Amino acid sequence: MENKHLPIGFMDSGVGGLSVLREAILKMPHENFIFYGDNKNAPYGEKPEEEIRELSIACVEKLISEGVKMVVIACNTATTVAVRYLREHYELPVISIEPAIKPALSAPGNKKVIVMATPTTLSQKRYFDLKERVGHQERLIEIPCAGLAKLVEKGDFESEELKSYITNKLLPFSKEDVGGVVIGCTHYSFIAPLIKKIASEIFRNEIEIHDGRYGTVRQIKRVLENSGLITDSQENGSIRLLSSGGEESISLMKKILFED
Ligand code: DGL
Repeated sequence: MENKHLPIGFMDSGVGGLSVLREAILKMPHENFIFYGDNKNAPYGEKPEEEIRELSIACVEKLISEGVKMVVIACNTATTVAVRYLREHYELPVISIEPAIKPALSAPGNKKVIVMATPTTLSQKRYFDLKERVGHQERLIEIPCAGLAKLVEKGDFESEELKSYITNKLLPFSKEDVGGVVIGCTHYSFIAPLIKKIASEIFRNEIEIHDGRYGTVRQIKRVLENSGLITDSQENGSIRLLSSGGEESISLMKKILFED
């Protein structure tokens, strides 16, 4: 098969990356997609760095064995610890996601910006370098959200558990002048409306959500176009969902992607 007709492979520790896939399907309906969720090992965000790297490599190997033309790391945590290694060791294009602090800090005004992400994402050199490049670090409030991806994996995006988790994380900063929240983990994309609602109440202000998945999908498209890998099919593409978590995880992923 010609390379441009091969699927694009997406990976995440679990269901979070489906938020990036959903945006990709919307923007590139003629492409074929394979999504691999490592649900058995989710969440990644509180595991040792070396283990996350090994798990991420295994996901990429799995996608490559399925015959993909590009790999998308739809996981901020895996990007933080593994993307450099992956780009050095694989020939196919590797696209990734990272917290959208650049657009968030370029928005007009001087209000503070909250970054919600996994403890791993916020404690690695890659994130420190990103902050350094962007500047205005004094406007960032970082909130490591241990356990939040796990709550999202349960599939109920409006649960009372989630509401009190988010409230408890944001409340200590209620005196700050906050204008936006960066969704620094793809799992949190599914609860962005809930985060926006709770944050807008706590900060008494219409909170803007900044989600890196839009920029990532624009980058996927750009790279496909520039490398002649974009499909020329006019038919709707196919979508295959794979998981290390078995049938139960696949059913949850289908529900999230096609019904919610
Ligand atoms: N969805 C992931 C991210 O963007 C990982 C969450 C986790 O597994 O802890 O960071």
